[in-house]
Amino acid sequence: MNIGEGKLEPGVPEMRQLVELAVERILHNLSTLDVQPAADLSNVSEVAELVREPMPEHGQPYEPLLDLVFDRLIVKGYNTASPGTLSYVTGGGLFHSAVADLIAGAINRYVAYWGASPGLAQLEQTVVEWFAAMIGLPATAGGVLLSGGSLANLSALIAARRIKLGDDFGRGTIYTSDQVHHSVEKAVVMAGFPEQALRVLPSDRSFRLQADTVRRAIESDRAQGKRPFLIVANAGTTSTGAIDDLAGLAVVAREHEVWFHVDAAYGGFFALTERGKRLLAGIEHADTVVLDPHKSLFLPFEPVACSRGTPQSCGAHTSCTRTTFRKPLQSANAAAL
Ligand SMILES: Cc1ncc(COP(=O)(O)O)c(C=O)c1O
Repeated sequence: MNIGEGKLEPGVPEMRQLVELAVERILHNLSTLDVQPAADLSNVSEVAELVREPMPEHGQPYEPLLDLVFDRLIVKGYNTASPGTLSYVTGGGLFHSAVADLIAGAINRYVAYWGASPGLAQLEQTVVEWFAAMIGLPATAGGVLLSGGSLANLSALIAARRIKLGDDFGRGTIYTSDQVHHSVEKAVVMAGFPEQALRVLPSDRSFRLQADTVRRAIESDRAQGKRPFLIVANAGTTSTGAIDDLAGLAVVAREHEVWFHVDAAYGGFFALTERGKRLLAGIEHADTVVLDPHKSLFLPFEPVACSRGTPQSCGAHTSCTRTTFRKPLQSANAAAL
């Protein structure tokens, strides 16, 4: 079937058909998960070849495309929704969320600033407010939804750089543990620092970064003319789920007037349990926090970055995050990375 062939805008019956045919495949896939392998890595290069082609000049029939996606592409690689998958970070997604994505994509309202779609933009802010409150950030905290924890770490790092160092950040130095996620190492370089600007410090026997280790490194670097400006703590390391000494690191950050960022991409939602809350004590002092709902909340991929922020920090950061907020630079409650 070639639905809506030659037309840019399908009619209502065609739109219904497009969705129904896709939903049929989705439901078949989801209802047979228990018999699907957790991984199929056979002939993967040939599968990739199937979609290596010049940009097409003409539309293609719909159902063969669905066959290609569901029967050839989706079946290869790791199936993180399979009951046979033992990974603990990547999940299978939530159907309700997928329906919301369909609505968002089909209606496609512009939400880059609050006035363009106040209700929809507020949805984002409300979710950010829930998460910020969950980890004990003050009511002034704000944030943005981004495409992944990596981009969220980068955004936080750039906020810290601009607010703590301004334009002259050549000798800026960042402290983290040997358990840090590689996205932080990449973010350091992307934010314009040399690799040596990141001081990767040893974690203890439980893979936790201790406050004294960081304190000593900052004092020694300062004495050598470096400009310590940021501590990146882990709340749930990728390999073991370890949580650094957040309370102790917050004290060091305060003593030395450095930015305190917590990468809680994986572990932030431990705060939903009493035990997790106890283990995360100190996260509430963070200047910025990254949380990934697509990890321990099993939502489809899309994380959030929160900042305890102030109107001043709004002004200091980029316009793309500022435009996310309702009354940037005016409301005491507005905050940005
Ligand atoms: C602790 C931690 N931080 C950051 C990231 C990066 O998140 P994303 O893969 O969403 O970019 C991960 C991903 O596994 C992670 O475990």
